[in-house]
Amino acid sequence: MNINKICCIGAGYVGGPTMAVIAQKCPNIKVTVVDLNEKRIDDWNSEDLSLLPIFEPGLDEVVGEARGRNLFFSTDVDKAIEEADMVFISVNTPTKTYGRGKDMAADLKYVELCARQIAKVATTDKIVVEKSTLPVRTAEAIHNVLSETGNGVNFQILSNPEFLAEGTAIQDLLNPDRILIGGESEDAIQALVDVYSNWVDDDKILTTNVWSSELSKLVANAFLAQRVSSINSISELCEKTGANVKEVARSIGMDSRIGSKFLNASVGFGGSCFQKDILNLVYIAKTYGLNEVADYWEQVIIMNNHQKTRFTSNILSTLYNTVSGKKIAMLGWAFKKDTNDTRESAAIYVADGLLEERAQVYVYDPKVKEARVYEDINYLNTRGEEENKDLLSVVTDPYKACEDAHAIAVLTEWDEFKSYDWHKIYDKMLKPAFIFDGRGILDRAELEGIGFEYYNIGE
Ligand code: NAD
Ligand code: UGA
Repeated sequence: MNINKICCIGAGYVGGPTMAVIAQKCPNIKVTVVDLNEKRIDDWNSEDLSLLPIFEPGLDEVVGEARGRNLFFSTDVDKAIEEADMVFISVNTPTKTYGRGKDMAADLKYVELCARQIAKVATTDKIVVEKSTLPVRTAEAIHNVLSETGNGVNFQILSNPEFLAEGTAIQDLLNPDRILIGGESEDAIQALVDVYSNWVDDDKILTTNVWSSELSKLVANAFLAQRVSSINSISELCEKTGANVKEVARSIGMDSRIGSKFLNASVGFGGSCFQKDILNLVYIAKTYGLNEVADYWEQVIIMNNHQKTRFTSNILSTLYNTVSGKKIAMLGWAFKKDTNDTRESAAIYVADGLLEERAQVYVYDPKVKEARVYEDINYLNTRGEEENKDLLSVVTDPYKACEDAHAIAVLTEWDEFKSYDWHKIYDKMLKPAFIFDGRGILDRAELEGIGFEYYNIGE
């Protein structure tokens, strides 16, 4: 099978960058990314590449090279499906907020809608690729929807989960650790292998059965999140015992069996996927009656929630058990550096906890817009929107955020925070001037030398 035209449904954090890289590396394939969200598509089509809907280092260059040549963004979903040989489904699969499996299972309604639309529109054979992260055995449901169309079209279904991390998406896509393709049809698998072979070495392209591929994606995220919760659990023990979590992480990480990556203690992991995918794994285990397996993985989330709460309550107790009316500067709102994504960011929950104590919170983030911050905090529904507006301010100058503050909390590890003029910040703060470093990125000796009271997780 020769792939000449690809359609990707979903122009989000995965669909956009992934297809941009495929288009850049496969100039002979026409790639069309479609979405129902008109504003998002308009933003992807912005003349000015700094206005793309997603901030990712290097993304503007890739889009700039391929867009208009063989990369297109459109709201005409039907047309793109109809003309494609291969259709990627890259829509969101959030945790269900209603009904059976509420707060645990993945909500597959968007994926099913895509399958139904493909079934309705297609008049020629197609390979349908699951790019979204899905519960194991979803391909079966997609297959059922597609095979009931009765219009004689032949569909092959592949699972091809995405492993990119935000902030490094372009590098991850250009040099992936592996490409995973699960499927039954050898021809369909080969067609997708041929796409990736344009820039990925064959020994990094792994083919498995569909169920292993679907499950591997959930398991990879579970293992990664588990490492963060593991080191975060140790951070609390370090604080009680006088051990230093950075020293512990370094010592254990030098064991080649453990490895040094993903051992940064933090205020807790965020992002749209870790929690959602573990909850999904827990739900699947429960539906098979595997309660011990479910409880084991659920603990990763319990630990993460504890870490966020612990960070907030440490601020409260250090500031003499009251932050009411006190100005607290929050540096960072994104769930990690080098992205404007704020989904499930620890910052949202820390801010919410401080607002409950009636603190005056001033947020600064280099890439997150004011409207997003309010949407995030209002979404929690802890208090009314007016009250959130009164208690929380978003500023575009970090020095203004810190002026007259009682304390600074670092929530995201943005590089620019390290090079601030901390003398200048200290001079304009109320004393004692506290810093709570939720990412362990600042220099304790320097800050204490200036006069700050510096608190770091795990020290
Ligand atoms: P996203 O919310 O950024 O993007 C999804 C897009 O799909 C939205 O723009 C939405 O409008 C669109 N959409 C939904 N239903 C549609 C329909 N029927 N027709 C057309 N468009 C539709 O989500 P994302 O972060 O890109 O994640 C997508 C999937 O990839 C999820 O399953 C996620 O778990 C997985 N994933 C995400 C990441 C990541 O870093 N964000 C990494 C790996 C895997
Ligand atoms: C994660 C995985 O790393 C990707 O492989 C996967 O494709 C993706 O989820 C997904 O399925 O969505 P992402 O969430 O974008 O990627 O970013 P990570 O770098 O994994 O960070 C997740 C969270 O963990 C962040 O809040 C980060 O700050 C935190 N983290 C990470 C730590 O607190 N400590 C660490 O040592 C590493």
